[in-house]
Amino acid sequence: MTEQSAPYPSASPAPSTSPSQGGRVRTRHLQACKDEGRRFAMLTAYDHLTASLFEQSGVDVLLVGDSAANTVLGESTTLPMTVEDLLVFTRAVSRGARRALVVADLPFGSFENSPEQAFTTAARFLKEGGAHAVKIEGAAQTAPTVRHLSSHGIPVIAHIGFTPQSEHALGGYRVQGRADDEAARLLDAARALEDAGAFAVLMEMVPAAVAARVDEALRVPTIGIGAGAATTGQVLVWQDALGLTQGRTPRFVKQYARLADELRAGVEAYVDEVLTGAFPTEQHSF
Ligand code: KIV
Repeated sequence: MTEQSAPYPSASPAPSTSPSQGGRVRTRHLQACKDEGRRFAMLTAYDHLTASLFEQSGVDVLLVGDSAANTVLGESTTLPMTVEDLLVFTRAVSRGARRALVVADLPFGSFENSPEQAFTTAARFLKEGGAHAVKIEGAAQTAPTVRHLSSHGIPVIAHIGFTPQSEHALGGYRVQGRADDEAARLLDAARALEDAGAFAVLMEMVPAAVAARVDEALRVPTIGIGAGAATTGQVLVWQDALGLTQGRTPRFVKQYARLADELRAGVEAYVDEVLTGAFPTEQHSF
Protein backbone atom coordinates (compact mmCIF):
# COMPACT_ATOMS: atom_id res chain seq x y z
CA MET A 1 0.00 0.00 0.00
CA THR A 2 1.31 3.41 -0.81
CA GLU A 3 1.01 6.47 1.39
CA GLN A 4 -1.50 7.79 -1.14
CA SER A 5 -3.94 4.94 -0.94
CA ALA A 6 -4.37 4.56 2.83
CA PRO A 7 -7.97 3.34 3.22
CA TYR A 8 -8.81 5.43 6.30
CA PRO A 9 -7.63 9.00 5.74
CA SER A 10 -8.55 9.96 9.30
CA ALA A 11 -6.44 7.20 10.86
CA SER A 12 -2.69 7.41 11.46
CA PRO A 13 -0.86 7.71 8.17
CA ALA A 14 0.45 4.47 6.70
CA PRO A 15 4.15 3.92 7.26
CA SER A 16 6.28 5.40 4.50
CA THR A 17 7.12 3.13 1.61
CA SER A 18 10.02 3.87 -0.70
CA PRO A 19 9.41 5.49 -4.10
CA SER A 20 10.48 2.22 -5.75
CA GLN A 21 7.53 0.55 -3.98
CA GLY A 22 5.16 3.26 -5.18
CA GLY A 23 5.51 5.54 -2.15
CA ARG A 24 5.91 9.30 -2.32
CA VAL A 25 9.29 10.81 -3.13
CA ARG A 26 10.37 12.75 -0.05
CA THR A 27 13.07 15.32 0.49
CA ARG A 28 15.09 12.64 2.30
CA HIS A 29 15.13 10.52 -0.87
CA LEU A 30 16.68 13.46 -2.74
CA GLN A 31 19.23 13.83 0.05
CA ALA A 32 20.01 10.11 -0.31
CA CYS A 33 20.72 10.73 -4.01
CA LYS A 34 23.34 13.30 -3.04
CA ASP A 35 24.78 11.10 -0.28
CA GLU A 36 25.01 8.05 -2.55
CA GLY A 37 26.17 9.83 -5.70
CA ARG A 38 22.92 9.18 -7.62
CA ARG A 39 21.00 11.71 -9.70
CA PHE A 40 17.35 12.65 -10.04
CA ALA A 41 15.24 14.26 -12.74
CA MET A 42 12.90 17.18 -12.19
CA LEU A 43 10.58 18.67 -14.80
CA THR A 44 8.00 21.42 -14.75
CA ALA A 45 4.30 20.47 -14.90
CA TYR A 46 1.21 22.62 -14.85
CA ASP A 47 -1.68 20.16 -15.24
CA HIS A 48 -2.74 16.72 -14.03
CA LEU A 49 -2.28 14.80 -17.31
CA THR A 50 1.34 15.79 -17.82
CA ALA A 51 2.06 15.41 -14.09
CA SER A 52 0.85 11.82 -14.19
CA LEU A 53 2.66 11.04 -17.45
CA PHE A 54 5.94 12.58 -16.28
CA GLU A 55 6.04 10.72 -12.98
CA GLN A 56 5.16 7.45 -14.74
CA SER A 57 8.19 8.15 -16.93
CA GLY A 58 10.50 8.43 -13.92
CA VAL A 59 10.46 12.12 -13.03
CA ASP A 60 10.89 12.33 -9.25
CA VAL A 61 10.21 16.03 -8.72
CA LEU A 62 7.50 18.07 -10.45
CA LEU A 63 7.99 21.82 -10.38
CA VAL A 64 4.89 23.97 -10.74
CA GLY A 65 7.05 26.82 -11.96
CA ASP A 66 6.02 30.40 -12.44
CA SER A 67 7.35 29.74 -15.95
CA ALA A 68 3.67 28.89 -16.49
CA ALA A 69 3.38 32.65 -17.01
CA ASN A 70 5.35 32.13 -20.25
CA THR A 71 4.45 28.61 -21.29
CA VAL A 72 0.75 28.54 -20.40
CA LEU A 73 -0.39 32.14 -20.14
CA GLY A 74 1.72 33.59 -22.97
CA GLU A 75 3.38 36.34 -20.91
CA SER A 76 6.87 37.49 -21.90
CA THR A 77 8.25 37.30 -18.32
CA THR A 78 7.33 35.42 -15.15
CA LEU A 79 6.57 38.65 -13.26
CA PRO A 80 2.81 38.74 -13.89
CA MET A 81 2.19 35.29 -12.35
CA THR A 82 -0.26 35.54 -9.45
CA VAL A 83 -0.64 33.31 -6.42
CA GLU A 84 -4.24 32.57 -7.40
CA ASP A 85 -3.30 31.44 -10.92
CA LEU A 86 -0.34 29.35 -9.77
CA LEU A 87 -2.55 27.73 -7.12
CA VAL A 88 -4.88 26.49 -9.86
CA PHE A 89 -1.96 24.85 -11.68
CA THR A 90 -0.55 23.45 -8.43
CA ARG A 91 -3.86 21.81 -7.49
CA ALA A 92 -4.06 20.25 -10.94
CA VAL A 93 -0.52 18.86 -10.72
CA SER A 94 -1.11 17.54 -7.20
CA ARG A 95 -4.17 15.64 -8.42
CA GLY A 96 -2.07 13.96 -11.12
CA ALA A 97 1.00 13.24 -9.00
CA ARG A 98 0.72 10.11 -6.87
CA ARG A 99 4.45 9.50 -6.42
CA ALA A 100 6.46 12.62 -7.33
CA LEU A 101 7.39 15.38 -4.92
CA VAL A 102 5.39 18.45 -5.98
CA VAL A 103 7.21 21.78 -5.59
CA ALA A 104 5.43 25.11 -6.14
CA ASP A 105 7.18 28.36 -7.02
CA LEU A 106 6.42 31.40 -4.89
CA PRO A 107 5.45 34.08 -7.45
CA PHE A 108 7.12 37.47 -7.65
CA GLY A 109 5.68 39.85 -5.05
CA SER A 110 4.22 37.10 -2.85
CA PHE A 111 7.11 36.55 -0.41
CA GLU A 112 9.70 39.35 -0.47
CA ASN A 113 8.20 41.69 2.14
CA SER A 114 8.89 39.50 5.15
CA PRO A 115 9.36 35.89 6.23
CA GLU A 116 5.81 36.08 7.59
CA GLN A 117 4.42 37.07 4.20
CA ALA A 118 6.37 34.20 2.66
CA PHE A 119 4.95 31.75 5.21
CA THR A 120 1.38 32.87 4.53
CA THR A 121 1.87 32.38 0.78
CA ALA A 122 3.78 29.11 1.08
CA ALA A 123 1.20 27.66 3.46
CA ARG A 124 -1.48 28.29 0.82
CA PHE A 125 0.49 26.24 -1.70
CA LEU A 126 0.67 23.34 0.75
CA LYS A 127 -2.88 23.61 2.13
CA GLU A 128 -4.83 24.62 -0.97
CA GLY A 129 -2.47 23.50 -3.72
CA GLY A 130 -1.39 20.17 -2.27
CA ALA A 131 2.29 20.94 -2.86
CA HIS A 132 4.93 19.30 -0.69
CA ALA A 133 7.55 22.03 -0.90
CA VAL A 134 8.13 25.50 -2.32
CA LYS A 135 10.86 27.14 -4.35
CA ILE A 136 12.04 30.68 -3.70
CA GLU A 137 14.14 32.81 -6.03
CA GLY A 138 16.85 35.01 -4.55
CA ALA A 139 20.35 34.89 -3.20
CA ALA A 140 21.66 35.32 0.36
CA GLN A 141 19.04 37.97 1.17
CA THR A 142 16.34 35.26 1.19
CA ALA A 143 18.12 33.23 3.89
CA PRO A 144 15.95 34.59 6.76
CA THR A 145 12.85 33.63 4.79
CA VAL A 146 14.19 30.17 4.03
CA ARG A 147 15.00 29.77 7.73
CA HIS A 148 11.50 30.87 8.78
CA LEU A 149 9.74 28.50 6.35
CA SER A 150 11.91 25.48 6.93
CA SER A 151 11.75 25.89 10.71
CA HIS A 152 7.95 26.03 10.44
CA GLY A 153 7.59 22.80 8.49
CA ILE A 154 7.79 23.98 4.89
CA PRO A 155 10.56 22.42 2.81
CA VAL A 156 12.29 24.97 0.58
CA ILE A 157 14.36 24.85 -2.59
CA ALA A 158 16.49 27.99 -2.89
CA HIS A 159 16.89 29.20 -6.50
CA ILE A 160 20.09 31.15 -7.20
CA GLY A 161 22.17 32.21 -10.20
CA PHE A 162 19.92 33.64 -12.89
CA THR A 163 16.57 34.26 -11.21
CA PRO A 164 13.94 35.15 -13.84
CA GLN A 165 11.86 37.20 -11.36
CA SER A 166 14.83 39.61 -11.16
CA GLU A 167 15.28 39.72 -14.91
CA HIS A 168 15.12 43.52 -15.03
CA ALA A 169 17.53 44.00 -12.13
CA LEU A 170 19.97 41.48 -13.65
CA GLY A 171 19.91 43.22 -17.02
CA GLY A 172 18.19 40.44 -18.95
CA TYR A 173 18.86 36.72 -19.43
CA ARG A 174 22.55 36.44 -18.56
CA VAL A 175 24.82 33.75 -17.19
CA GLN A 176 25.59 34.50 -13.53
CA GLY A 177 28.85 33.83 -11.71
CA ARG A 178 31.30 34.17 -14.59
CA ALA A 179 33.55 36.69 -12.82
CA ASP A 180 35.49 35.48 -9.78
CA ASP A 181 33.77 37.84 -7.36
CA GLU A 182 30.33 36.83 -8.69
CA ALA A 183 31.24 33.15 -8.36
CA ALA A 184 32.39 33.74 -4.78
CA ARG A 185 29.10 35.52 -3.96
CA LEU A 186 27.16 32.61 -5.45
CA LEU A 187 29.05 30.12 -3.31
CA ASP A 188 28.50 32.25 -0.19
CA ALA A 189 24.78 32.50 -0.98
CA ALA A 190 24.49 28.75 -1.48
CA ARG A 191 26.19 28.11 1.86
CA ALA A 192 23.96 30.66 3.63
CA LEU A 193 20.81 29.12 2.14
CA GLU A 194 21.87 25.61 3.08
CA ASP A 195 22.62 26.86 6.57
CA ALA A 196 19.15 28.44 6.68
CA GLY A 197 17.58 25.05 6.04
CA ALA A 198 17.03 24.81 2.26
CA PHE A 199 16.73 21.12 1.40
CA ALA A 200 18.16 21.77 -2.08
CA VAL A 201 19.79 24.61 -3.97
CA LEU A 202 18.80 25.17 -7.60
CA MET A 203 21.24 26.99 -9.89
CA GLU A 204 20.15 28.52 -13.19
CA MET A 205 22.55 29.66 -15.93
CA VAL A 206 25.76 29.28 -13.95
CA PRO A 207 29.11 28.17 -15.47
CA ALA A 208 29.53 24.41 -15.07
CA ALA A 209 32.77 24.78 -13.10
CA VAL A 210 31.17 27.20 -10.63
CA ALA A 211 28.12 24.95 -10.18
CA ALA A 212 30.44 22.00 -9.57
CA ARG A 213 32.24 23.98 -6.87
CA VAL A 214 28.93 24.84 -5.21
CA ASP A 215 27.79 21.23 -5.39
CA GLU A 216 31.01 20.07 -3.79
CA ALA A 217 30.71 22.62 -0.99
CA LEU A 218 27.13 21.72 -0.06
CA ARG A 219 25.79 18.79 1.90
CA VAL A 220 22.30 19.16 0.38
CA PRO A 221 21.53 18.24 -3.22
CA THR A 222 21.95 20.80 -5.98
CA ILE A 223 19.71 21.05 -9.02
CA GLY A 224 20.86 22.57 -12.28
CA ILE A 225 19.29 24.26 -15.29
CA GLY A 226 22.02 25.49 -17.56
CA ALA A 227 24.53 24.70 -14.80
CA GLY A 228 26.49 21.76 -16.23
CA ALA A 229 26.53 18.12 -15.28
CA ALA A 230 27.84 18.09 -11.70
CA THR A 231 24.56 18.81 -9.91
CA THR A 232 22.57 16.05 -8.19
CA GLY A 233 19.41 16.88 -10.13
CA GLN A 234 18.54 18.49 -13.44
CA VAL A 235 15.41 20.47 -14.28
CA LEU A 236 13.97 21.76 -17.55
CA VAL A 237 10.76 23.46 -18.60
CA TRP A 238 8.81 20.62 -20.18
CA GLN A 239 7.61 22.49 -23.26
CA ASP A 240 11.25 23.30 -24.06
CA ALA A 241 12.50 19.76 -23.44
CA LEU A 242 9.77 18.10 -25.47
CA GLY A 243 9.72 20.48 -28.39
CA LEU A 244 6.42 22.25 -27.87
CA THR A 245 7.99 25.69 -27.49
CA GLN A 246 7.89 27.61 -30.76
CA GLY A 247 10.99 29.52 -31.77
CA ARG A 248 14.36 29.75 -30.08
CA THR A 249 15.06 27.84 -26.88
CA PRO A 250 17.98 28.57 -24.56
CA ARG A 251 21.31 26.87 -25.29
CA PHE A 252 21.02 24.71 -22.17
CA VAL A 253 17.85 23.03 -23.45
CA LYS A 254 18.02 19.64 -25.13
CA GLN A 255 14.93 18.61 -27.09
CA TYR A 256 13.87 15.03 -26.41
CA ALA A 257 10.79 15.07 -28.63
CA ARG A 258 9.21 17.23 -31.32
CA LEU A 259 5.73 17.66 -29.92
CA ALA A 260 4.93 20.78 -31.91
CA ASP A 261 5.43 18.84 -35.17
CA GLU A 262 3.38 15.91 -33.83
CA LEU A 263 0.55 18.15 -32.72
CA ARG A 264 0.54 20.15 -35.94
CA ALA A 265 0.39 16.98 -38.04
CA GLY A 266 -2.40 15.54 -35.90
CA VAL A 267 -4.48 18.70 -35.96
CA GLU A 268 -3.98 19.15 -39.70
CA ALA A 269 -5.18 15.58 -40.29
CA TYR A 270 -8.22 16.21 -38.09
CA VAL A 271 -9.11 19.46 -39.87
CA ASP A 272 -8.65 17.79 -43.25
CA GLU A 273 -10.93 14.89 -42.35
CA VAL A 274 -13.59 17.20 -40.94
CA LEU A 275 -13.54 19.35 -44.06
CA THR A 276 -13.61 16.40 -46.45
CA GLY A 277 -16.21 14.51 -44.43
CA ALA A 278 -13.85 11.58 -43.75
CA PHE A 279 -14.52 12.00 -40.03
CA PRO A 280 -16.72 10.92 -38.33
CA THR A 281 -17.48 7.53 -39.84
CA GLU A 282 -20.09 5.02 -38.69
CA GLN A 283 -17.52 3.73 -36.23
CA HIS A 284 -17.61 7.05 -34.34
CA SER A 285 -21.41 7.45 -34.47
CA PHE A 286 -24.25 6.12 -32.30
O1 KIV B 1 9.60 28.55 -13.13
C1 KIV B 1 10.36 27.65 -13.52
O2 KIV B 1 10.03 26.81 -14.37
C2 KIV B 1 11.70 27.60 -12.96
C3 KIV B 1 12.70 26.71 -13.62
C4 KIV B 1 13.26 27.43 -14.79
C5 KIV B 1 13.72 26.24 -12.69
O3 KIV B 1 11.99 28.30 -12.04
